[in-house]
Amino acid sequence: RLLIIDFGSQVTQLIARRLRELGVFCEIRPYQSVTDAELRENPPQAVILSGGPDSVTRDGSPRAPQALFQLGVPVLGICYGQQVMMAQLGGRVEAGHHAEYGRAFVSPAPGHALDGIFAGLFQDGREEVWMSHGDRVTALAPGFAVIGTSANAPFAMIADEARRFYAVQFHPEVHHSPNGRILLENFVRLAGFTGDWTMAGYRDEAIRLIREQVGDGKVICGLSGGVDSSVAAVLIHEAIGDQLTCVFVDHGLLRQGEAAEVVAMFRDNYNIPLVHADESELFLGALEGVSDPETKRKTIGRLFIDVFQKHAAEVGGAEFLAQGTLYPDVIESVSFSGGPSVTIKSHHNVGGLPEKMGLKLVEPLRELFKDEVRALGRELGLPAQFIGRHPFPGPGLAIRCPGEITREKLEILRRADAVYIDQIRKHGLYDEIWQAFVAILPVRTVGVMGDQRTYDYACALRAVTSVDGMTADYYPFTHDFLGETATRIINEVKGINRVTYDITSKPPGTIEWE
Ligand code: XMP
Repeated sequence: RLLIIDFGSQVTQLIARRLRELGVFCEIRPYQSVTDAELRENPPQAVILSGGPDSVTRDGSPRAPQALFQLGVPVLGICYGQQVMMAQLGGRVEAGHHAEYGRAFVSPAPGHALDGIFAGLFQDGREEVWMSHGDRVTALAPGFAVIGTSANAPFAMIADEARRFYAVQFHPEVHHSPNGRILLENFVRLAGFTGDWTMAGYRDEAIRLIREQVGDGKVICGLSGGVDSSVAAVLIHEAIGDQLTCVFVDHGLLRQGEAAEVVAMFRDNYNIPLVHADESELFLGALEGVSDPETKRKTIGRLFIDVFQKHAAEVGGAEFLAQGTLYPDVIESVSFSGGPSVTIKSHHNVGGLPEKMGLKLVEPLRELFKDEVRALGRELGLPAQFIGRHPFPGPGLAIRCPGEITREKLEILRRADAVYIDQIRKHGLYDEIWQAFVAILPVRTVGVMGDQRTYDYACALRAVTSVDGMTADYYPFTHDFLGETATRIINEVKGINRVTYDITSKPPGTIEWE
């Protein structure tokens, strides 16, 4: 086990991700939760100290348990972690007038063999790295030597080879430090990890932790039909069987055939107890006449909580609520329980439910990124077409129907969307695209079909590429594809006589229309 002691960096989880890619099992713990006694009793095989927003020059700022430095295990300090090591081992850190943010270059200090953890670095003479620090080390602790320097960090890379203590000012875990992976890989090899850990290992560990947390309690899980909640539900069902009940709320804003597909997958493939709550009348009734996007979202959010609560009460006696929260949700939210991260924005999967219902959360995916959740889904045997599904927003088709929502428009939208997705699949493009959908526009336009005048809705096709949904670019379909798709939609979907393609990136647009 490799222990990551977290001082609250926004990118700590990326360290874990890189290690998982290297086949190394790791555990992330907030710094306050790790004690000297625990480290002595159950020493990890290696430790990484993360970055963090504080300054070690501030009285009362976070420290690592001092016992860590007597365990005889390799330690790697990153950014704040480096400064903590210097502060605790007898070096000096000063609050900087030499801040560095963003790209920097590290050059090797003369006279040092570039082997061990530094093997394979500086092949091109210098290393491009990503920095984000205000303070910097100004004097090394005894035993340390400089390995690399940058313009504003004379001690950008340092090492005490005898004790196997290493520290860097930059962030090797981010993409913008292209060879950071080499450094991390060298570190784990040097610590004796063989890289034999797999997603199957993650699954087993997650199952153990779910059993430990839940005991013989009951868990309810809100299913959306998306990948995250589906994978969470199947994983939890493996762990505790029928102590889990899923609630699938159909708000009448799902895509064509979606409700039936989700229900069949859970009942037929997994035999997971499932409440299928058809609440479309309630939702569509409440949305009648509503055209403001925020009012739509709030109405849906509020009803969702009420409905979920009602059906959860029927399950009876659940103490736990399972959610498919992913790491990017965690880092943007306040919910990093007791952790040291700075809050960027509050973000809830099922807004406010746990507090309102007095439920404890089970979030077995909170350390994972989307592609890792898909890998876990494959490990759990979820059908491939389910795992690869594009994300679908909680408010569903409501936010793809700008203006007033009517049943007629929803039905037209569903049919157009089905044709569009069918086209994308037929052309083998589905997996290249992060998300694709149709929005039905609140305008009718004039057309001519078979010598008749038409006066029907216009629609917009949307398809984007993205890594995490935070930024996105439009997908460059060929004109042939667009032409063929427009023809099919107009021919096959009564009610649409004009098709446009949305070529806005995010920013300045957003992916959804509302
Ligand atoms: P935007 O439109 O903000 O969307 O660029 C980014 C990603 O988030 C999805 N999305 C949501 N997902 N509840 C969700 O579960 C929501 O309220 C919601 N709004 C947007 C959107 O589909 C895209 O993948």
